[in-house]
Amino acid sequence: MARILTGIQASGRPHLGNILGAILPAVKLSQKPDNQSFLFIADLHSMTTIKDAKLMQENTRAVAAAWLACGFDADKNYFYRQSRLAGFHTELMWYLCCQTPFPMLSNALSFKDKSDRLSDVNAGLFTYPVLQAADILMYQANFVPVGKDQKQHLEMSKDMAASFNRTYGEVLTLPEPLIDESVMVIPGTDGTKMSKSYNNYIDVFLDEKPLLKSIKSIVSDSTPLEAPKNPDTDITFKLFSLVANQNEIGELRQNYLRGGFGYGHAKQLLFEKLWTKFEKERDIFNYYMKNEAALEEKLQEGEAKAKDIAEQTMKEVRKVLGFA
Ligand code: ADP
Ligand code: TRP
Repeated sequence: MARILTGIQASGRPHLGNILGAILPAVKLSQKPDNQSFLFIADLHSMTTIKDAKLMQENTRAVAAAWLACGFDADKNYFYRQSRLAGFHTELMWYLCCQTPFPMLSNALSFKDKSDRLSDVNAGLFTYPVLQAADILMYQANFVPVGKDQKQHLEMSKDMAASFNRTYGEVLTLPEPLIDESVMVIPGTDGTKMSKSYNNYIDVFLDEKPLLKSIKSIVSDSTPLEAPKNPDTDITFKLFSLVANQNEIGELRQNYLRGGFGYGHAKQLLFEKLWTKFEKERDIFNYYMKNEAALEEKLQEGEAKAKDIAEQTMKEVRKVLGFA
């Protein structure tokens, strides 16, 4: 039985890029009978940049609802908010801080990047990788699926676990990252990487009208309606081919090549595809967004289960530290 763990920041409603690039692959991994999945909302990490309590709550709900909507089985697995286990996570973080050389943190690429870009360079940003290591080591995770940008954080987590084990004995499992180099970058409406930060994203949980509006905003070239078009350079075609089946993709390709078929037609087809493909997900998402109590119940059940595991680890950790 392998333990798979990953954290998601509470940064807003997940978009098509998040869903295809991160959520659906992780849900698939969690469905393998031999895996036990730990999925949590890293709201303590989000505090490094989000300072508004209401916004934090809204984002947390949207992220949790999206994962359930995309098929994550919270009953079979572990599903929780990091903040509801903050005592455990921050305690282990402190112990790991005392194993972490200062230069390891000051040379971290993501810290350097954030301290260049952000005006609020707080100590939370600096110690961010130590809290991340605590998140992982607390649940003795074997594998951690993450994007390429998290590679260094995962190396640090492993180093901290190894250093702790060398000093105090073999208590913590050394985690391995799962980085799928083949995961493609889903383009946004402007053709660059779809991202919340670029305002170029497609939110598949939207209602009909706003969804159609955002699809209509996809950039296309000025080839006239009658002329043949190149499907391979068009963003609408690219997005359509990520969600449609082979027959549908082939048919749309022929329409592009034949001419007499406008980008507006293609966008309408993309809209219809997204609208029907994500119908079930949209219903579940809206259900949890409207029924706060139902979502709360799922999370609280998950938090009680996660607490049992965190307690076991911390009991061992405190023992070897001489704090038992
Ligand atoms: P955003 O750029 O919208 O803020 P995040 O950085 O929060 O997204 O990413 C959350 C997860 O979704 C990560 O695992 C990331 O690799 C994945 N992801 C984000 N955008 C895309 C995209 N355009 N294509 C594929 N995967 C993506
Ligand atoms: N740093 C991760 C990100 O920005 C989120 C995260 C927090 C995480 N704790 C984690 C990811 C533990 C994996 C494991 O995407």
